[in-house]
Amino acid sequence: MRTLIKGGTLVTSNDSYRADLLIDGEKIAAIGSGLDGMAESVVDVTGRYVLPGGIDAHTHFKLPFMGTHTRGFETTPAAIVGGTTCIVDFSPQFPGLGLLDSIHKHREEEAEGRSAVDFAFHAMVMDAQESIYSEAPALVKAGVPTIKLFMAYKGTPFYCTDNIIFRMLQETRKVGMLINLHAENAEMIFEMQRQCLAAGQTEPKYHAVSRPEVVETEATRRAAQLAKAARAPVFIVHVSCLEAMAAIREGRQDGIAIYGETCPHYLTLAVDNLAKPGFEGAQYVCSPALRDPRHFDPLWAALQNGWLQTVGSDHCGFNYKEQKEMGRDDFTKIPNGAPGVENRLAILYTYGVLTGRLSLERLVEVFATAPAKFNGLYPRKGALLSGADADLVIFDPDWQGTISVKNSLQGVDYSAYEGFAQKGRAEKVFLRGRLVVDEGRHVGQLGQGKFIERTPYGLAYQGFRAE
Ligand code: URP
Ligand code: ZN
Ligand code: ZN
Repeated sequence: MRTLIKGGTLVTSNDSYRADLLIDGEKIAAIGSGLDGMAESVVDVTGRYVLPGGIDAHTHFKLPFMGTHTRGFETTPAAIVGGTTCIVDFSPQFPGLGLLDSIHKHREEEAEGRSAVDFAFHAMVMDAQESIYSEAPALVKAGVPTIKLFMAYKGTPFYCTDNIIFRMLQETRKVGMLINLHAENAEMIFEMQRQCLAAGQTEPKYHAVSRPEVVETEATRRAAQLAKAARAPVFIVHVSCLEAMAAIREGRQDGIAIYGETCPHYLTLAVDNLAKPGFEGAQYVCSPALRDPRHFDPLWAALQNGWLQTVGSDHCGFNYKEQKEMGRDDFTKIPNGAPGVENRLAILYTYGVLTGRLSLERLVEVFATAPAKFNGLYPRKGALLSGADADLVIFDPDWQGTISVKNSLQGVDYSAYEGFAQKGRAEKVFLRGRLVVDEGRHVGQLGQGKFIERTPYGLAYQGFRAE
């Protein structure tokens, strides 16, 4: 079955141009003009942008964390109506299991048969037993060339000391794996949390007080030095502040292969949300913490100028009721993380492109192409190329609406962006050639998404190759 996407403006990470696009089965077969008559059906997309499907390389579906867990893959239609056709989900390491066995379990028990989007997994260290160091080759062979380690969360199974991180960097570089690092100084946070609680400061706003910018900046600079010493690349996830971004930019200027991601919430949501009346501020508890608005413009500039490479949602589907409420008397017990897989494209377009801070081409780069490259999905995904998967977003730039939990598919009881104006939306989405969103509504099925094996050396595309 061939479908012609006709009359739209194709937007890539390099340029925008008028062309038609031919889908044959699951793939893009041709791009250009004169394709009329080659397809059984024609979709007129005049006045619309045609974008590659988004790659959200930072999601946490069914994450066990802080005594509870996030919503599962049955809520992935939220990703697809938001223009994301492939996620790279952080696969938790289960007690007593190795990294690869944990991925098999997460895949079989949670994702297979349930996901509305294509999916891949990062390994995630939650039990730094000796065997993790020798798992890298098997992970790569299984199509998992990325892994997350945490410098934060002292006192939990996530926390990794520098020797663990350094040794993992040494091991993973040999096989072209890329380490994703959560960069916050756990020891400083631990002490500041203790001091807040000792002073009776238990409300959500003290989450940010106990995790100031300096804890992130220090850890990011340390991460750069660890990567330098190990001669390995490192990717810093969820960069929240100007100073941590500058640490990455300066590290790269010094020849270190350090790269970074920021998230829609660090571009638009300010720290004062944590002080909302009652306990409502708990909805905004995520780590790193939300910041002062002085950071917004520098983070947008970093995306526009290539100092940061990608935007991931860091989606965590926790409810406010019963889950966030676990920390009513103690902010350190509020599950960290906020939902947002549905809103990444809308935020980037409305608050980046339409305010002149991000070009449309850079939006495509940070939303789809660069996450595909860093994660070994390119050129199969993340780009409008002949031979690539036909994952497409038909974007209506004129649509206007308001973000609200009332029309959200995220399956949680609040939206961090409640009341935000939204301009433009994913009107239609194709997942490997199949129409799965129409008129902004999910018309696909759970289980349509499939596991995507990825390739190592994703950074080869960014000019770096481990020896
Ligand atoms: O607050 C966050 N980011 N929660 C999810 C776990 C992580 O650190 O990414
Ligand atoms: Zn993290
Ligand atoms: Zn995360």
